[in-house]
Amino acid sequence: MTQEQWQSIYETAISWTKEAGENIRKMMDDTYEIHTKVNEHDLVTDVDRETELFFKNKINEKYSTHRIMGEEGLGDVVDDLDGTVWIIDPIDGTVNFVHQKCYFAISIGVFHEGKGMVGIIYDVMADEIFTALNGEGAFLNEEPLPRLENVTMNESLLSFNAGWVMKDRRLEALVNQSRGIRSYGAASLEMAYVACGRIEAYISFNLAPWDMAGGYVLLEEVGGIATNYEGNKLTFLNKDTLLAANPAIYKDIMKEIHGK
Ligand code: IPD
Ligand code: CA
Ligand code: CA
Ligand code: CA
Repeated sequence: MTQEQWQSIYETAISWTKEAGENIRKMMDDTYEIHTKVNEHDLVTDVDRETELFFKNKINEKYSTHRIMGEEGLGDVVDDLDGTVWIIDPIDGTVNFVHQKCYFAISIGVFHEGKGMVGIIYDVMADEIFTALNGEGAFLNEEPLPRLENVTMNESLLSFNAGWVMKDRRLEALVNQSRGIRSYGAASLEMAYVACGRIEAYISFNLAPWDMAGGYVLLEEVGGIATNYEGNKLTFLNKDTLLAANPAIYKDIMKEIHGK
């Protein structure tokens, strides 16, 4: 595919995402059903499913050869990244959506032969859209995001769930060394915040490809690094851990945690 064709897919994906966001804002005013999935804290609503269906219908109609990997399972069964694959989280941060009515995002990553080409993360209530096209840079509401600058740990904000400290006590060192810890409850937004310099690193021990795909493309465009917690490449085919960071802090964290 030519860069022009990718530009067109990028623009189309942005316009669908904004339309989906508009639909979500409308659906929020009506009553919607809330179901639990794996456990009582794992929620899904009709709005998640409706939003995934919206993308599925749009993609099938316009790009019939592209495949879809979506959290709610309305897309295809995808076990490789051959061809073009849309990796979609229709609502990332469903618990925030239900409880707080803000701080949730639509997250999209379009991959081609395993390479992240398009990344979109839309904070629906703040109306902030983070977008990236491979080789063309990353943007927040169409304003270019600069490449990430050198920063030290003691002037950095990091983000992870409090519970992870219990899983790996080595994280306590980061709590002590950094300027502070935040936790937003929406992985895609936390990756977008690393990409735009609002925080310097985000760590999670349990993410799915759709939590990370959009953010990964954004980070690549600003010189950020995203690997699993061990420092290995993400595959976007299975659940994995994540360390997404400004490159300077990435190095410090790897050294602190793994001694390398
Ligand atoms: C969840 C959010 C959350 C993260 C979980 C994800 P969902 O996604 O990103 O911040 O800690 O691991 O599953 O289920 O709200 O799309
Ligand atoms: Ca979910
Ligand atoms: Ca998610
Ligand atoms: Ca979700």
